[in-house]
Amino acid sequence: PTCERYAVRRLPFAQLADGDVAFFKRLMPGRVITGEEEVKPFNVDWLKSVRGCSQLVLKPQTTAEVSQILRYCYERNLAVNPQGGNTGLVGGSVPVFDEIILSTALMNQIISFDKVSGILVCQAGCVLERLSEYLEEQGFIMPLDLGAKGSCHIGGNVATNAGGLRLLRYGSLRGTVLGLEVVLADGSALDCLTSLRKDNTGYDLKQLFIGSEGTLGVITAVSILCPQKPKAVNVAFLGCQSFAKVLETFTTCRAMLGEILSAYEFMDEKCMELVETHLKLSSPVADSPFYVLIETSGSNSTHDEEKLNNFLERAMASGLVTDGTVATDTKKIKVLWSLRERITEALTHDGYVYKYDISLPVGKLYDLVTDMRARLGRSAKNVVGYGHLGDGNLHLNITAESYSHSLLDAIEPFVYEWTARCSGSISAEHGLGFKKRHFIQYSKPHEAVLLMQQFKAMLDPKGILNPYKTLPSSPERRMC
Ligand code: FAD
Ligand code: MLT
Ligand code: ZN
Repeated sequence: PTCERYAVRRLPFAQLADGDVAFFKRLMPGRVITGEEEVKPFNVDWLKSVRGCSQLVLKPQTTAEVSQILRYCYERNLAVNPQGGNTGLVGGSVPVFDEIILSTALMNQIISFDKVSGILVCQAGCVLERLSEYLEEQGFIMPLDLGAKGSCHIGGNVATNAGGLRLLRYGSLRGTVLGLEVVLADGSALDCLTSLRKDNTGYDLKQLFIGSEGTLGVITAVSILCPQKPKAVNVAFLGCQSFAKVLETFTTCRAMLGEILSAYEFMDEKCMELVETHLKLSSPVADSPFYVLIETSGSNSTHDEEKLNNFLERAMASGLVTDGTVATDTKKIKVLWSLRERITEALTHDGYVYKYDISLPVGKLYDLVTDMRARLGRSAKNVVGYGHLGDGNLHLNITAESYSHSLLDAIEPFVYEWTARCSGSISAEHGLGFKKRHFIQYSKPHEAVLLMQQFKAMLDPKGILNPYKTLPSSPERRMC
């Protein structure tokens, strides 16, 4: 096993042979990576917490090449790990053993953009930020945004059903993705790349692949509905004295800002300490136990500013908010957003990170952080809470100087049991990947997991696509 923290047995896939490498080199000259050093970055995840030992990275440029790769691997019984920008946070993007890495890095072409409908069709390896820049030039935006935008691929976003910072306004990818092209495990291509808002002909197969984390097929192209670029964007960064006030501020701002509210994010004082200490960012408001970032996006700057100011006056006058600052220009907006977006990065400088991504009834969101802090006491370095409060999504993160088995045992399964008691989800947006697949039963009934396993067996009978990920398999157990 490559990862000592998990007891996983290698499944009986074929071993890579010289003849296989020769085949791929003929198929894609110059786009086959071998050699330990060159392959190394593809073997390690963003958090540097999971490491595989693949010897081969393939960089196809077309759907036909992906088809040929998978057809060959299927016949040879070689396991394959689809990889986008490798920013996933649950160990799904890197091999566990020697799976061949199929990288979408060179599948980065925009196929079409229709300015009337706002529908973008592109290859799966387009980097999210590049797509955003392309669209902004034409007066549109991507319906999703996340801190990893500079590296993550749209195919990876769809494969994880990434949520991010705009979900509150534009909804999940399950609504905005209109069509997908997918190559199945046996190499056959499934062309469901339609660009229709409405299509009720039979089952909506694309939904199976959205959030399937590379276990059911390789997404090769995406058709996605993009909103108009808002004419006016404002960001308010506010300090609150308690979590109850964070919640009341949310209720008030939803009522007063209505349709122009586009994000409601929160972070606790520990998060602020971390971005200040490790990234040298400075807080724009007085020290507070909690901070809230509110974004408005609308079509009339005078109207939007007036609405926001009315809300802020009310929030300050009633003591919901004790300090705050507002940004209307792009540069200051970016500075305020970076305080929230860069928490993930700051955490990695604090030590080993135990990362949890939980959906909860919003009123109980912070209780989990408080309970965890009390439970772990001094055995953790920091226990912090932040996230997409408007979506009921808490990011609970725990840091320690280094990885410790006993600390993990104090956190899990406690965190999952706590979540299940509140009928929450143990993965709001990051997926299950390698690290969390054995905990799926805390959020899904046995019958649902069984049906998922049946879908997997039907679409990938040899189990070559991203093995050891997403779904539990009985012979493997997490080491305790
Ligand atoms: P990868 O990490 O390469 O892969 C992720 C999974 O998708 C793997 O299981 C992989 O096998 C599969 N996959 C990738 N491409 C394909 C494909 N073409 N076909 C089939 N399967 C594929 N996530 C959120 O939801 N919201 C956030 O706000 C957010 N913020 C983040 C901020 C930072 C700083 C970081 C590092 C991560 C963040 N993430 C967030 C997690 C991560 O960025 C997302 O999960 C992202 O969608 C992954 O895209 P990727 O291209 O990097 O995929
Ligand atoms: C975020 O919202 O910042 C991301 O999901 C990443 C994280 O959870 O750290
Ligand atoms: Zn998030």
